[in-house]
Amino acid sequence: MKTIFSGIQPSGTITLGNYIGALMQFVELQEEYNCYFCIVDQHAITVPQDRLQLRKNIRNLAALYIAVGIDPEKATLFIQSEVPAHAQAGWMLQCVASIGELERMTQFKDKSSGKESVSAGLLTYPPLMAADILLYNTDLVPVGEDQKQHLELTRDLAERFNKKYNDIFTIPDVRIPKVGARIMSLQDPTKKMSKSDPNTKGFISILDDPKTIEKKIKSSVTDSDGIVKYDKENKPGISNLLSIYSIIENRSIDEIVREYEGKGYGEFKNDLAQVLIKKLSAIQEKYLSLVESDELDRILDMGAEKANKAANKMLKKMENAMGLGRKRK
Ligand code: TYM
Repeated sequence: MKTIFSGIQPSGTITLGNYIGALMQFVELQEEYNCYFCIVDQHAITVPQDRLQLRKNIRNLAALYIAVGIDPEKATLFIQSEVPAHAQAGWMLQCVASIGELERMTQFKDKSSGKESVSAGLLTYPPLMAADILLYNTDLVPVGEDQKQHLELTRDLAERFNKKYNDIFTIPDVRIPKVGARIMSLQDPTKKMSKSDPNTKGFISILDDPKTIEKKIKSSVTDSDGIVKYDKENKPGISNLLSIYSIIENRSIDEIVREYEGKGYGEFKNDLAQVLIKKLSAIQEKYLSLVESDELDRILDMGAEKANKAANKMLKKMENAMGLGRKRK
């Protein structure tokens, strides 16, 4: 059975972009793969976090993973900082990466541009992400499009390590969904929907209530020609809403376009809001029953135990390959 690894940062709210680009893929893939799904809290501290809020976000995200349909009996769900091998392997891979290639990462450039001071962790984030993936002999990494460059770097680091030290890493492939790899902001459809958007109308949180969802969809930026049609170049707003509709309802974009022929944006947006409310309410109900439960702790304990076992095996191989510590029998 092939192995999958993916992670989500517990920073702020989890958006419809995370759901469509990542979580929906995870649910589908857990049936066929040996899956590791991680709450990457060590990645979250590359930018300042409030301690209590971070703790809350970690728990919320764990509950959300299960609420969307991750089955903890099938997949291993765990918190990154509870598996120390990630940080240890991350350090070794920092020593394999060059400063130049890390400085070239678009995410680093975006997050550091115009700032007087950013953490060193923001620069060395990609080797930690590579460690996350490589520790588990991962074959496939399902992510949204924005993570593609980090995956390319992961492959480069793995190949470099294999050549220079010992051939121990599986080279992982990236899996990006055909539709929904980049859900756009509702307020500026030329920008990615992001949880860090200061304008909260730009994103839908998985935990938004029905009124908020309705308001956000209704006030989403479209165009003035009033025809529901998929045209990413000229009608990015409507095209983004059509992608969301199509994925959530599991219907083709063509079919939806046909349904709204001769109808205006008002009706289309109203129906989309109802579709989202129905989908997200079901998730929220499950989430609420889990988030404060002991059951959630039991799942995360079990996940950490399984992940530690697998990750420590690879960590030992990495240490042996690099000559760290003493040789043990
Ligand atoms: P993060 O937490 O920013 O996002 C989690 C996942 O959601 C996807 N995503 C989107 N997909 C479609 N449209 C959007 N608007 C959108 N916004 C976010 C992301 O592509 C991602 O798949 N570095 C990663 C976390 C990470 C990781 C890993 C992922 C750490 N280690 C190892 C995979 C494997 C990140 O910051 O994702």
